[in-house]
Amino acid sequence: MDYSCKLGPAGNLKTACLVVGVFAKNRMPPQTEVLDDALGGQIKAVLKRQDFAADTADTQMLYEPRGAAAARILLVGLGDHKDFAPGLFGKAMQAAFAVLNRSGAADCALVLPGTGENDDTYRLTRAAVDAAETAVYRFDRCKSESKPPKKPLKRIAIVVDNRAQLASAKRAAEHGRAIGNGSRFAKDLANLPGNLCTPSYLAEQAQALARGKRKLKANVLSEAQMDRLGMGSLLSVSRGSRQTAKLIVLEYKGGKASSKPIALVGKGLTFDAGGISIKPAANMDEMKYDMCGGASVLGTLAAVAELELPLNVVGVVPSSENLPDGDANKPGDIVTSMSGQTIEILNTDAEGRLILCDALTYTERFDPAAVIDVATLTGACIVALGDQASGLMTNDDALGAEILEAGEACGDRAWQLPLWDEYQKQLDSNFADMANIGGRGAGTITAACFLSRFAKKFKWAHLDIAGIAWLGGAQKGATGRPVPLLTEFLLRRAKAKM
Ligand code: BES
Ligand code: MN
Ligand code: ZN
Repeated sequence: MDYSCKLGPAGNLKTACLVVGVFAKNRMPPQTEVLDDALGGQIKAVLKRQDFAADTADTQMLYEPRGAAAARILLVGLGDHKDFAPGLFGKAMQAAFAVLNRSGAADCALVLPGTGENDDTYRLTRAAVDAAETAVYRFDRCKSESKPPKKPLKRIAIVVDNRAQLASAKRAAEHGRAIGNGSRFAKDLANLPGNLCTPSYLAEQAQALARGKRKLKANVLSEAQMDRLGMGSLLSVSRGSRQTAKLIVLEYKGGKASSKPIALVGKGLTFDAGGISIKPAANMDEMKYDMCGGASVLGTLAAVAELELPLNVVGVVPSSENLPDGDANKPGDIVTSMSGQTIEILNTDAEGRLILCDALTYTERFDPAAVIDVATLTGACIVALGDQASGLMTNDDALGAEILEAGEACGDRAWQLPLWDEYQKQLDSNFADMANIGGRGAGTITAACFLSRFAKKFKWAHLDIAGIAWLGGAQKGATGRPVPLLTEFLLRRAKAKM
């Protein structure tokens, strides 16, 4: 999508479609009022007919308006004025852009509704760009014939009232575009099935991402190299698969050589059948999404590189399959991790933590300022938080607060769960230093407790993204989350103007 920012008034803009907001109960934002005056009250006349209630995401197309240079006007419901917020605006815009993508309009001009008090041009623009990227996303690589819309939406102009807003909108469009590109990168990898998106494929995509970018470097470790490092836990998962495991390392150097990097560690399990503790058949196809943490790390690095943030960032993605096989892990097996700690594998389906623990130990070598790991780690997290929030657990509450705030600001939310010491004993094992599962209660927390034992040397936060990384049912598809949250966190660390 091509984004530009323009100064109003909207009535003079030549465009295939002007997109304007209307609040419920016939209330118009001032920008819509001004336009309606130029239109001689055509919008008010439509509202009077009461066909269009302006609930959030209602849309109504008007053709050949008199008094404006636009060919169409799309009225978009913004819901109740008192509830208006960037998140709801994003929902409304997603509906609007979906309508436009199916219409004959290839370009549009979105009139930002200013509500007066505090100026949230930046956040509204970010929400609009995010909505546009979501509305036009398609994944048809695996269809023999792709059926794209006849005239897809290609260009969006954001229309604002004054120069200060113009500057904010431009920054937001730039940030939003990079986040959109990073999210699309993650979604494409995630939607690709397990037979095509293998650990080797993920590694190749990371290498392709770094190609030609001076500040970004990719390095992929083979099983032999991991073996020399003593990654017995990670390699034990991969033993049950004919695909060889990869440890993907991306280094982005945009900051001073002396500044410690932020490390992002993402679970890149390209298919999780559970191993010998095999999963039930229903919806098992969705376990191709078990690499969404890894994909979001790669997507975030893509966004950071596009924005050229003045920061150092490392991405580490352990990648493997988890399948049943004669050589696979068996319940009761004991393996030795790179840290030297031994693990009794009581359930081979708790494999994410087994590959992440060695990746976390590996990350120590970067002497990171902070480490955030991202993983579709537990079904229990879906039970706890559904598809609204990532589960956040941390050994550093200041880091946790930073992540929560970043998520709230960009609408890609996280919610904190406790990591109290009392939970650790659920991992006790009679035969090894720890077990890889913690029994029935608090499954999301005991998974994080396991990881915390490999994160003692740095400030660390864990995001369980099992509930938010993809949608099931008729809308089955990857969401690209938490690329927005991670990039927002890094924009703030880089002190980017927003
Ligand atoms: N990848 C799954 C977690 C998962 C399941 C994410 C369903 C999203 C949807 C993970 O590897 C797993 O199987 N976890 C087990 C852990 C259990 C054996 C302690 C789970 O959640 O059932
Ligand atoms: Mn599993
Ligand atoms: Zn898994």
